[in-house]
Amino acid sequence: MRIDIISVVPELLESPLSHSIMKRARDKGLLEVHVHHLRQWAVNEYGQVDDYQYGGGAGMVMMPEPLANAIETLQKDRTYDEIIYVTPDGPRFDQSTANQLSLKGNLIIICGHYKGIDERIRQHFVTKEISIGDYVLSGGELAAAVIVDAVGRLLPGVLNDETSALMDSFQDNLLAPPVYTRPSDFRGWKVPDILMSGDPLKIADWRYEQAVQRTKDRRPDLHSDQ
Ligand code: ADE
Repeated sequence: MRIDIISVVPELLESPLSHSIMKRARDKGLLEVHVHHLRQWAVNEYGQVDDYQYGGGAGMVMMPEPLANAIETLQKDRTYDEIIYVTPDGPRFDQSTANQLSLKGNLIIICGHYKGIDERIRQHFVTKEISIGDYVLSGGELAAAVIVDAVGRLLPGVLNDETSALMDSFQDNLLAPPVYTRPSDFRGWKVPDILMSGDPLKIADWRYEQAVQRTKDRRPDLHSDQ
């Protein structure tokens, strides 16, 4: 999978996408991430990419021309399955969207700043809008990093134990069960006996029950009795 990210602060994306599992995915050639500085498509020598909004009001708007030129330059080399704009007024990101995106080949992600991007880019170029939650970030870069991470780890071969992505919270609309490691007795707080029983069927049943209980307690909105 290849993801091209258009940003006015590319530095914000460097670290989150260069360590741990994202580093492994990129080193193995399973995930290519290219971050493009929008200023290379600025409208003048001052690097201008934003302007005052028509109709008045505080806050700048990202101009259509640099964004359109950025997208069309990228499209010269390949076709993209989705052109994503990360914005707090988009549909909320979840595991099912991450799963769907992990099946795509090439994606563009546009990171907004200030008051956002000119509406005409949303209408004529953007194919999918995503919010990562009901709060406003100072720019789209951290949202883009969240999406790349959630999608990248689902690509086949990225995780060592491929089943572990299937056991994640949310994959079955269930939160993950509790986990423990050594020592079995830490300050008198003991690991549940069943996990020490060596009986894989009983352990699987226990984990499932715990996952259901945890989901009922903490996220009743996810839980259904079906
Ligand atoms: N940009 C600013 N806030 C955002 C959010 N919550 N999700 C996606 N992009 C954003």
